Amino acid sequence: MTKKLWGGRFKKEIDKDFFEFQKSIHYDYKLAEYDIIHSLLHIAALKNAGILKNGEEKKLSSSLKEILKEIKKGEFKPNFHSEDIHTDIQNRIEEKVGALALKLHTLRSRNDQIVFDGRFYCVEKALDIALSLNVFNKSLLSFIAVPFIGQKFIGYTHTQRAQVVEFVYYIHAFSAMFRRDLDRLVRFIDSLSIYVGAGALTGTSLSRENYNKAIKELSYLKDSNKINKIKPTENPLDNVSDRDFVIEFLSILSIIQMHLSRLAEDFILYSTKEFNFIDLPEEFCTGSSLMPHKKNPDFLELVRGNTGKVYGNLMSLLTTMKGLPLTYNRDMQLDKEPLFSSVEVVGLELKVLSKFIKGIKLNTEVIEKALEDETLYATDLAEFLVYQGVPFKEAHTIVGKLVRDVFDKNKKIKEMKDEELKQYHHALNKTIIQKVMNAEYSVKSKKTLKRIIPR
Ligand code: ARG
Repeated sequence: MTKKLWGGRFKKEIDKDFFEFQKSIHYDYKLAEYDIIHSLLHIAALKNAGILKNGEEKKLSSSLKEILKEIKKGEFKPNFHSEDIHTDIQNRIEEKVGALALKLHTLRSRNDQIVFDGRFYCVEKALDIALSLNVFNKSLLSFIAVPFIGQKFIGYTHTQRAQVVEFVYYIHAFSAMFRRDLDRLVRFIDSLSIYVGAGALTGTSLSRENYNKAIKELSYLKDSNKINKIKPTENPLDNVSDRDFVIEFLSILSIIQMHLSRLAEDFILYSTKEFNFIDLPEEFCTGSSLMPHKKNPDFLELVRGNTGKVYGNLMSLLTTMKGLPLTYNRDMQLDKEPLFSSVEVVGLELKVLSKFIKGIKLNTEVIEKALEDETLYATDLAEFLVYQGVPFKEAHTIVGKLVRDVFDKNKKIKEMKDEELKQYHHALNKTIIQKVMNAEYSVKSKKTLKRIIPR
């Protein structure tokens, strides 16, 4: 147990097991960089208010920046005996500058620090996820859509063969989901402010000008657009008690995860021997320890499976926050692990998926064979009859009966003679069947589609 940021009013030492139970350093050390930015801003505001002398502020600032350097180089090693990251940094500064460090925590609270750190973390990570999502989405289009322009595919509803689609549109449907996710992330980042000056809950005696000046002068963030996000608090009570931004981020991550899981499920299904439409890259599959022939889609299964964790993280925080009285309550410390977990899971999935997608092979021969299934064109035939003046409901019945009959007689519509076809409707004949019941006609007849990629 290291030195704590509190204790004066206590007669007894904290119970060792309780100390271990309540500490957060083993996960909140990830916020070290943002915590130092908060400290840099804070000491500048204290200087502006005349509480710190210029020289004192400089001394504190250079020791804070030394730690910042360690963090940037990946050399920062948190002391896991500390209570939390705020305490850990305070203790380090004490080691560096001695008694002067006791002024660092003037007029501020960890309640204010932690929400500053959390908001900063969310902005940075939302940006990272948005960039990875963009890379992945581009890979999706350039590696498995563009090379297959013109390729027809089977569209399913209820996992039953439905109608023919262009493969590009099938892939683009996923891309459209990820596009929406990207827009959601951008809106989220745009809407997020990072507040300072809440104190424990009622604000501080430093003025807004003290803070504004400090923000403007923060050289560490001078060239970053994040500096515009930092503002003096608007309502400190709300500020220290608000975790909406974490919930919002977790819900965006949950939607992304849901989309990734749906993509994973389709690819798992289509890579089975039963479908055999795609081959998965071997480097992302594993074998069985018992069955020598197996090539299992473990990566995709883990993506699908992670949905439990990511949804769980959202539910966990929603439940933690339910019914909490204003303002800060220690319960809120428990927002960190779910947040870090979802960020890590989705980030890793996107990273691996961007590579995975490049190795997927389309079994075009198998797909072409499947496209010979005449039922895929039943709707096209009914639509053809509509253009001959037949009411759709009647056309539906005619084609339904035709499909049922060939099914019962184990025949093919394309093998039927003109006389047979005419019994269903006088406009039907062999030539019409050839023309209408083919993949090219089927996709060309769909005029509502916006051409996403030129033919
Ligand atoms: N570790 C705390 C958290 O993550 C920081 C705030 C602690 N404040 C307090 N009064 N104990 O929320």
